[in-house]
Amino acid sequence: MLKNKKILLGITGSIAAYKTAALVRLLIKAGAEVKIVMTPAAMNFVSALTLSTLSKNQVLSDLAENNSWSNHVMLGRWADVMLVAPLSCNTLAKMAHGICDNLFTAVYLSATCPVIAVPAMDEDMWHHASTKNNLQIIQGFGNAVIPVENGELASGLTGDGRMAEPETILKRLEAFFFGQNQLLEKKILVTAGPTYEALDPVRFIGNHSSGKMGIAIAAECKKRGAVVTLILGPSGEEIPAGLQVIRVKSAEEMFNACMSVFDHTDIAVMSAAVADYTPVNIATDKIKKSEDIFSVELKKTKDILKHLGTIKKEGQLLAGFALETTDERNNALKKLAEKNADLIVLNSLNDSGAGFSGDTNKITIFDKNGGEQHFDTKSKKEVAVDIVNTIIHLYYA
Ligand code: CTP
Repeated sequence: MLKNKKILLGITGSIAAYKTAALVRLLIKAGAEVKIVMTPAAMNFVSALTLSTLSKNQVLSDLAENNSWSNHVMLGRWADVMLVAPLSCNTLAKMAHGICDNLFTAVYLSATCPVIAVPAMDEDMWHHASTKNNLQIIQGFGNAVIPVENGELASGLTGDGRMAEPETILKRLEAFFFGQNQLLEKKILVTAGPTYEALDPVRFIGNHSSGKMGIAIAAECKKRGAVVTLILGPSGEEIPAGLQVIRVKSAEEMFNACMSVFDHTDIAVMSAAVADYTPVNIATDKIKKSEDIFSVELKKTKDILKHLGTIKKEGQLLAGFALETTDERNNALKKLAEKNADLIVLNSLNDSGAGFSGDTNKITIFDKNGGEQHFDTKSKKEVAVDIVNTIIHLYYA
């Protein structure tokens, strides 16, 4: 699993740094390529000579070494993953707040690869609100954290704070790379965001969808190795790198974009809040204010999910969403059947923390085999992980 994987190991100032010699040995034995960056404080706990011998690479710690500049940007781009072990609370605070005062922090800030942090510190520091806050911040950046273990600490106390053992870190890395391959080369279509149905050149009928949920699903599929096409309605959200994005405005444009890629798609996830109705006529000029009551004639849009359900072939998986306010379970099950979907993700506007524009969601997933999974309220990124896990499970079943 780790063969030829490029691992950039960042070592920071903690007594647990002595364990990195064993960790590097395990990584090299597993076939990984290892480059190491140390903070100045880490040099007090383990020798660069030991680590360069074990990793078969020069260990870097200064931005300018031997009159030459260490290219921190290229280090972050070289790596498949940046592993920070041990992570001290001092460096954690710098990572959380963008402080860049040594080679390690410069590499961290410029790294485009995934980051996995393995904290190590004394129990009281571990439980301090500031540490918890900083951990939450880096997790919010998308960094993964391997939790500390309980046991004997350098202070002589026993408690939480020990760095995870090298064998545990190795297992987590293997799981990480396995996860990255689960959707390798699979072609995935995700729709996201609202659609805007024009009334005239300046007005439209739209909805409050932000696109966050669909974008998080697209990003999660990409993380697992998929080739992702994101068909996105009007949304101001930032789009992660590496997705093929087709921007659309109306339900009709979204339908056409889906039709252009669906034939070559393995998995389609329809998370967009598509308008159900669109104006019969779009005024060419701005509609002027006149009568007290103003009516607009609307016609049904094409139901994209339903249409894809009628043309999907053996082996293609189709996932839809159901946003409900009443009789949620029955409505979701009805959509699952009527749209010939393989699974439906239900979110109810009656659940606090669920719905359109917030950063959290609460979902239930129903699948065509009668499966029903209830999930707690979580961040949309975590919800995307649950949805993609369920899709993978069903796809390979
Ligand atoms: N959907 C779609 N095309 C449409 C309308 C909806 O592809 N024109 C998809 C959505 O992306 C979602 C699912 O159908 O995956 C359910 O959408 P939802 O708005 O909850 O339900 P509707 O089918 O529109 O029915 P209703 O509005 O009556 O609940």
